[in-house]
Amino acid sequence: MSEPELIVLSTETDTARELRADVRDGLRDTPKRLSSKWLYDTRGSELFEHITELSEYYQKRAEQRILRDNAAEIAGLTGVGTLVELGSGSSEKTRLLLDAMRNETLERFVPLDVSESALRSAVEAIALDYPELTVRGVVGDFTTGLAKMPPTDDRMVAFLGGTIGNLLPDQRAEFLASVRAALRPGDWLLLGTDLVKDPDRLVRAYDDAEGVTAEFNRNVLRMLNRELGADFPVEDFEHRVHWDADREWIEMRLRAGRALRVFVRELDMTVDFAAGEEIRTEISAKFRLDRIRRELDVGGFDLYRWWSDEAGDFAVSLASAR
Ligand code: AVJ
Repeated sequence: MSEPELIVLSTETDTARELRADVRDGLRDTPKRLSSKWLYDTRGSELFEHITELSEYYQKRAEQRILRDNAAEIAGLTGVGTLVELGSGSSEKTRLLLDAMRNETLERFVPLDVSESALRSAVEAIALDYPELTVRGVVGDFTTGLAKMPPTDDRMVAFLGGTIGNLLPDQRAEFLASVRAALRPGDWLLLGTDLVKDPDRLVRAYDDAEGVTAEFNRNVLRMLNRELGADFPVEDFEHRVHWDADREWIEMRLRAGRALRVFVRELDMTVDFAAGEEIRTEISAKFRLDRIRRELDVGGFDLYRWWSDEAGDFAVSLASAR
């Protein structure tokens, strides 16, 4: 077994700079907004793992089911030497792919994640369990990291978990084009997307009875208090979930229960909230097959096959770079 490697593309300083810029712009905008990537500090990542176990949150189970049932077919169809996983986190679901692909031609696994700690433990565990693979972790942002990675042989890029839905339509187009630009014709993209369904079920998945998602959402304010010396009265913000039927996406918001003023010390910035005013903290787009196909096509990919779970809750699509 070769020693697993870790390449650091984005450092803590880059991330700190981005956070400051996002807070400065997002909290001055009307309506107020923050990028959903700030939800994933250590506590936020733990809360997210808890969310994926909730009975209301079907996504992870559905995607796992799809991969379990179809990984062998995916491995057979693609037969690549390198698997790159964007936003790999714990790389738990990826093992289903690796198990199938190690029997084919797979030689190299390259997980990319912003969280260095999560990546380090994932890389070590995978290197141990798949000794024949070269494992090289990349610490970086999934929107820019791929372009900065050294090119290799034939590749499949996996972007699972429905995370593409956390990007706005313009950002998705830019993201898909950047993935395509990093690939060669005939390379593969494996994409997980949550699907449009009964709005009540969707809202419940983001507003669970136990209040785990509410805590996950409010945790972003605790992070701002800690990292930027802000003084958000966290308990005065209410977790809100809104289904936008026209744009077919879920929004998570935090609503000020009263008029209040927040001071963000590190930015020397005052932010006023009217009673009931909201910050949008996440969008989570839900897809239909035609939109997946169209967005892939615009990005330079041909949809080759797609798989859904029995209930039609979630989809995994395999596309080839044109
Ligand atoms: C799995 C990261 C895409 O949008 O469903 C879960 C995160 N947000 N509950 C999603 C999330 C609120 C999530 N992703």
